[in-house]
Amino acid sequence: MKPAPGRAIGVALLGCGTVGGEVVRLLTQQAGELEARVGAPVRLAGIAVRRPHRHPDVPQDLLTTEASELVTRDDVDVVVEVIGGIEPARSLLLAALRAGRGVVTANKELLAEQGADLFAAADASGADLYFEAAVAGAIPLLRPLRESLAGDRISRITGIVNGTTNYILSAMDASGAGYAETLQEASQLGYAEADPSADVDGYDAASKAAILASLAFHTRVTSADVHREGIAELNATDVAAARQLGRTVKLLAICERISEPDGSGGVTESVSARVYPAMIPLSHPLAGVSGAYNAVYVEADAAGALMFYGQGAGGAPTASAVLGDLVAVARNRVAGGHGPRESAYAELPVRTMGETPTSYHVSLDVTDRPGVLAQVAQVFAEHGVSISVVRQAEHADEDDMAIRRPRGASLVIVTHIASDAALRSTVDKVAGLDAVREVVSVMRVEGEVS
Ligand code: HSE
Repeated sequence: MKPAPGRAIGVALLGCGTVGGEVVRLLTQQAGELEARVGAPVRLAGIAVRRPHRHPDVPQDLLTTEASELVTRDDVDVVVEVIGGIEPARSLLLAALRAGRGVVTANKELLAEQGADLFAAADASGADLYFEAAVAGAIPLLRPLRESLAGDRISRITGIVNGTTNYILSAMDASGAGYAETLQEASQLGYAEADPSADVDGYDAASKAAILASLAFHTRVTSADVHREGIAELNATDVAAARQLGRTVKLLAICERISEPDGSGGVTESVSARVYPAMIPLSHPLAGVSGAYNAVYVEADAAGALMFYGQGAGGAPTASAVLGDLVAVARNRVAGGHGPRESAYAELPVRTMGETPTSYHVSLDVTDRPGVLAQVAQVFAEHGVSISVVRQAEHADEDDMAIRRPRGASLVIVTHIASDAALRSTVDKVAGLDAVREVVSVMRVEGEVS
């Protein structure tokens, strides 16, 4: 719906926390510039919150507790949602879209779980649905995927899309400390939430991976399709093992297009979306991304490799992405058109983790006697897993003498690419060998040619 000439674009804001407060501030402070950029004034029509008394700093006459009434009011053209979670955000946004209102949302969880319903409602009414702030905060990433790279073919996205876990892993790497004490320190410094599970268990990154994979591969990928492992099982030994191999550990969101020969001269394509901690070489552009920063490495056939880097969370950075979307939606309304729709035409199958090609780093503590290396290598061979690197180092004799056992050795194996299921079974079988005293560390290896 195109507003009458000269009429302001009315904005309904749902939620007024850290991000919402910044949206109000930017809308107010930059009103003149926004009007010039959009071609019409952009005016806050209302702010829906649950407890108005908790928001003394925003214009009190705009506050309302009646969100469902606000989203379809006549003076509202665009609904900006920064509440998060599934309900009531879902119902409110569906009502807004069905009534032809443009929607700007930062809600990754809702988009990753139930994006299809929102896109269908937007399609049916011709309304806009923009969500740049849902992935990697301030970093312009979704618009480049959706628009700038629309003529290219994306093969892979590897992202550090969660600042909390990147802060923790960077701190573990720098100090050599374990996971639990580093998490506690991160909480004290305000880098981790009181309940950090959405971040450390990988749910937040998995939602973002689903959104990125959907856009990159023109295929509907939901959070249920994303294999997810968090960082809570990591210990100082894993991080140290990575260092010794010239690698570092990062929680990665990986979206990959997998092309394989179909046996009759053609190629079959599928996609994989997954989140887990992995070792990457120190020479990889993502290895230098430390602290709470986010970065996303995109590989496309024609463009080659692209790196997007910046602040992935926080009030002002996230509000920057929200305002960018708001300007785009407002411009579309002034012009009487709409932005790009959902593109899910490719409908590529999504692989399970077991079927996904990966490679492993395995560090073992073994008894040092003839034939042990051959026994271990035999298990890899039986599972069709090819070994890329083997390193063996003797323990200092005193370590073993102190606890009266035969001399031991550390065995480090890095594999070539194989199916994750084959790699997993190999490790299980190796762990059961008599000569293997302990599986010290097992981690996937990403970001290198194998
Ligand atoms: N909690 C997220 C992070 C930001 O730590 O990066 C919001 O997705």
